[in-house]
Amino acid sequence: MERVELGWDEFWGNLFRVRHRRSIPGIQHYDDLVADFCIEVLHLKEGNEILDIACGAGDHSVLFAKKGLKVAGFDISSSLIKSAEEHAEVEGASVEFFKGDMREINFEQRFHGAVILSHSFGFFNHEENVLVLQGSYNALCESGTLLLDLMNPYNIPRFQKTWTALKGGFLLSEPHFLEAASGVLKGRPAMYIDIENDRVVLMNQDALSNNDTRMYTALDIRKLLEEVGFAKIELYGENKLPRRPYAASSERMVVVATK
Ligand SMILES: C[S@@+](CC[C@H](N)C(=O)[O-])C[C@H]1O[C@@H](n2cnc3c(N)ncnc32)[C@H](O)[C@@H]1O
Repeated sequence: MERVELGWDEFWGNLFRVRHRRSIPGIQHYDDLVADFCIEVLHLKEGNEILDIACGAGDHSVLFAKKGLKVAGFDISSSLIKSAEEHAEVEGASVEFFKGDMREINFEQRFHGAVILSHSFGFFNHEENVLVLQGSYNALCESGTLLLDLMNPYNIPRFQKTWTALKGGFLLSEPHFLEAASGVLKGRPAMYIDIENDRVVLMNQDALSNNDTRMYTALDIRKLLEEVGFAKIELYGENKLPRRPYAASSERMVVVATK
């Protein structure tokens, strides 16, 4: 079998965020619950505008639009933005997608709410992670609210080595590894057996190194959000309704910060 290496966009973007994610049983129902939770805790009403930061293939952006919001999706990956646009078209949803780096969000006081879902915060060094919060703050209008849906650092899921059957091949994901001294959750190495094209697909250096996530505790995040200017910070232990208080054993750490 031929061996090929793919970069971030193709490996994580297409294989993981589109093909793998959409093959997860019950994922549409899960996304629907997450979208309803966001709309309620962000106090969004029909016609309000929401920014979906690091929107990936647009699964939540499309749901927000179908639920009556004006939506902007923002992601760095060209291939994911393309998939998101196609997905919105198929679903008949009106979403404005932007390709950009979340360290350089340049909207000014436009959105009633903003979300960063599926633990898409902490990808950079500390100073750059703060830039993401600053840009999010600036993008919100007066009294606007930002929601971060994060893994709970006290209860990180014990990911196992898994094989997933996709159409045309099999995806192997290795477990996560938490580097305790730096607080960085090292990305999951993965490999794809591409039966359709008779090849083994590996991750290149770009795909391997762009996959680490700095874990922040609730105290860390609160301090950062206050420094950036947010006035009120709430925490929840789940990303679906009813609202559950945050605890060490919670499934998620959802942070809701109001300007
Ligand atoms: C874990 S995925 C989450 C995608 C989507 N929010 C979801 O819940 O399915 C992380 C996303 O962050 C995006 N991303 C990574 N670095 C980024 C950056 N510097 N600026 C904007 N988006 C970025 C990736 O392209 C990917 O779509």
